Amino acid sequence: MLTQDEIKQLVAIQAAQLVQNNMIVGIGSGSTVYWLIMELGKRVKKGLLFQAIPTSKKTAALAAQQNIPLAELNDVNLIDLTIDGADEIDPNLQMIKGGGGALLQEKMVAAASRELLILADHSKLVQHLGEFPLPLEVIPFGWKQVQREIRETYQVEAVLRMLNDQPFVSDHGHYILDCHFRKIENPDILTYELNGIPGVVDNGLFVNMADLALIGFPDGRTETM
Ligand code: 5RP
Repeated sequence: MLTQDEIKQLVAIQAAQLVQNNMIVGIGSGSTVYWLIMELGKRVKKGLLFQAIPTSKKTAALAAQQNIPLAELNDVNLIDLTIDGADEIDPNLQMIKGGGGALLQEKMVAAASRELLILADHSKLVQHLGEFPLPLEVIPFGWKQVQREIRETYQVEAVLRMLNDQPFVSDHGHYILDCHFRKIENPDILTYELNGIPGVVDNGLFVNMADLALIGFPDGRTETM
């Protein structure tokens, strides 16, 4: 039986084969995408030539280490394919992302992509989104007002994400509130409501964005959905 990390590696190796010469490819963030970057690095060494749009500083640094040519989102028109991970995926391919705190850039890159492929091990599959706390990227100024609004409107705890006893700060200088919805009935409505709260930059619901998910299982099987 494969470990969770081996499953992540398995799907990442399969996905890396989809990258072809001259493509513009969005590269997600997280431990699954780590393996994708390693595999793409090997292919670059063998002559693959493509441009990568990273979704976080961490991804950019890892890709640079692997000599993968990087470009900015502003440098390109449309991205051919973006490959990313997810924290939860429901049967309609709606997702929660942002466990690594890169949701804003991930969503912008995904929105600029012709195709979004999601890689995950089977533990990310859920019937309903929401057991994984939904990340909300907020402006540090007045963040407690957003927290109060979430508590009053939804009776949901919005917990400020911390790192080393300090608020976690995203690549774009924002805080993250992890919102314990438990069960999200209408992700499409919730995403608009949340983004309408002053001070919210974006939320981790990725609604109608993924085209395909490649899911790996402990017995070495992979399935697309
Ligand atoms: C980061 C993300 C990641 O895609 C998500 O957290 C999945 O990560 P991993 O591949 O480490 O399980 O959204 O913001």
